[in-house]
Formats: sequence, structure tokens, C-alpha cells
Amino acid sequence: MVKKASFLPGNIGLAPMAGITDYTFRRICFARGAHFAFTEMISAKSILMNLSVNETYLPREDEKYKVGVQLFGSDPYELSEAASIVQERGLWIDLNAGCPVNKVVKKGAGSGLLRDLHKLKIIVREMRKVAKRFTVKTRIGWDKYEFEKIYDILVSEGVDAIFIHGRTAKQMYSGEAVWDIYNPGLVPLYISGDVYSHDDFKRATEKYGMDGAIVARGAIGNPWIFSGAKPSLNERIKTVFEHIDGLYSEYGTHGVVEFRKFIAGYTKDLPYAREFRNVAMKITDTDELKRAFIEYFRRVENVLEGIYAQNERG
Ligand SMILES: Cc1cc2nc3c(=O)[nH]c(=O)nc-3n(C[C@H](O)[C@H](O)[C@H](O)COP(=O)(O)O)c2cc1C
Repeated sequence: MVKKASFLPGNIGLAPMAGITDYTFRRICFARGAHFAFTEMISAKSILMNLSVNETYLPREDEKYKVGVQLFGSDPYELSEAASIVQERGLWIDLNAGCPVNKVVKKGAGSGLLRDLHKLKIIVREMRKVAKRFTVKTRIGWDKYEFEKIYDILVSEGVDAIFIHGRTAKQMYSGEAVWDIYNPGLVPLYISGDVYSHDDFKRATEKYGMDGAIVARGAIGNPWIFSGAKPSLNERIKTVFEHIDGLYSEYGTHGVVEFRKFIAGYTKDLPYAREFRNVAMKITDTDELKRAFIEYFRRVENVLEGIYAQNERG
């Protein structure tokens, strides 16, 4: 069997994260080196119900050739119908077979699909019939490693690529993600889990023979992870402003609240970060938040300049 060629525009992408990977964050990551990205997971039922909220999740015109629409659900016909409705909105359709959150799993969706591999097979078969490009994002098993079985099902049903988070569903996010995963090379395989630097990305892909990787938590507040660039303080503040402004245009005054999810990331490893976060997390006005960031970054600059000067003298 000849290995399928990847349809993805590159080997490092932004992983799906509910409540995080929206249009603004995707744009920030694309401009800093992400080759592709996902929407957050969207319920197949909600697509069939034509809920207007889905418009905020679905890819926009300017990114549609690099964003995959991720669907979740547990009914093969709902999922395939939803796939056929939204597939033209993005580059491809991805099935979520990995989310371990109880609310999702108890309905048999997300990683709940790994408890019944026969059902998973039927769902993949039905979605494959309609989706022009179709991938599955999954975990290595429900409560034990059985990725060989999962891989064989996905490949025999003709998926175009697999994204594998190297933990079982039961593990949730605990322990270390494994990168050394069964990979007979029949379809492109992309690793997910614990990629926290560009070097991690290189190690995970080169050492373990993966076709690429997707980054989730490691990209929050560090969109430079995709290129491996070391951002200057100027670039950091420019990015923070771009992010705050983007969220304001998407969500209005609520954008400030959305941005709180990124404050820790953008200030990671900087001096006085904890003190600043305590203040910044309470700010409710966009301009005030930007002023607070300017003040904070000035302070950081002074501290760092002091350290550099001392080093040069010493
Ligand atoms: C806040 C959050 C939301 C997530 N939402 C989704 C989701 O909607 N769909 C999905 O397949 N995975 C989701 N994930 C899992 C990630 O895509 C990824 O597989 C996992 O976090 C491991 O990668 P990491 O170590 O790079 O974070 C989510 C993870 C986090 C932290």
C-alpha cells in the first residue's frame, strides 16, 4: 500500500482548543508560522439545527484553505450530514474522537467513541463517504494503549490523516504524552501532546518519524512556537495589542474577558509576572488593559536592561 500524500499545507499546526482557537488566535498563529489550524470542536447537532453561534467558530474566507472544521457527535448520520453541510467552509473535516470531558463522553462523543470501536468504524465510514478531505483526531485508547487497533480501523476506512494525542482518554491531561507511537506509515500521522517548544516539535517529528505536529497549550501566549523565533519585547507587545484588538472586533467589550485566557502565556518567564497578572485579570476595559501592558513591559525592559548592564560590567 502506497502512503497517502498529505493535503495539509505544512507540518506544524495549531491544535483545536474549545474556547481558545477562534479566528483571532488562529490569525495570530498563522502570521507567526502556523501552517494550518483547526476550529474548536463544533457539535454536529448544532450544525443540523443551524445555530447562529457556529458562525463564530467556522473558518472565515481569508483562512478557509488552511483551517479544518472539527465536528463532534456520536450519531453517524448526524455527523456525516453535518460534514456535508460545512465542508466547503474549510480545507477539511476532522472528527473529534479524543475529547475526554465528561459532558461530551457521557453522550458517547469525543473519546467516548473509543469505548466502542465498531461504532467508531461506522461513523468514520459514513463521514468518509461525504467528506472530500477527512481526518480523525484521537487518543491512544480509552483506558489502555490500543492505538494499533484504532489506526487499522481509521486506515481501512480511508482517512486522509490522523492526529494522535499520546494519552489515553482516562488519563485526561495527566502524565506525559507518548510520542513513540505505532506508525506503519500508511497515512500521514501528526503528533499532539506536550509540544512546548520548537525543539520539542523537531524532536517529536524527527526522532519518532511523525509527519508533523499540532500544538495546543504550548501556543497559548507563545505563537512563536511555530517558527521557533525568539520574540523581542517589542514583538511581544505588538502581538498582545493585535490580539486584544482582534478580540475587541470579534466580541466587543467582552473581548477583554476572552483575552484573560492568554495573559499568563504572554507574560510567562518575565519578571513580576505574577504581580502583573493579578492586576491585569481584573481589568474590564480594552484601553486600560493596553495601558497596563505598556507600563508592565516598560518595567520589564528596565529590569532586563539592568541585568544586561550588570552582566556587561561583571
Ligand atoms: C482548553 C483546551 C481545549 C481543547 N479543546 C479541544 C477540542 O475542541 N478538540 C480537540 O480535539 N482537542 C481539544 N483539546 C486537546 C488539544 O487539541 C490537544 O490534543 C491536547 O491539549 C494535547 O496537546 P498539548 O499538550 O499541545 O496541549 C483541548 C485542549 C485544551 C487544553
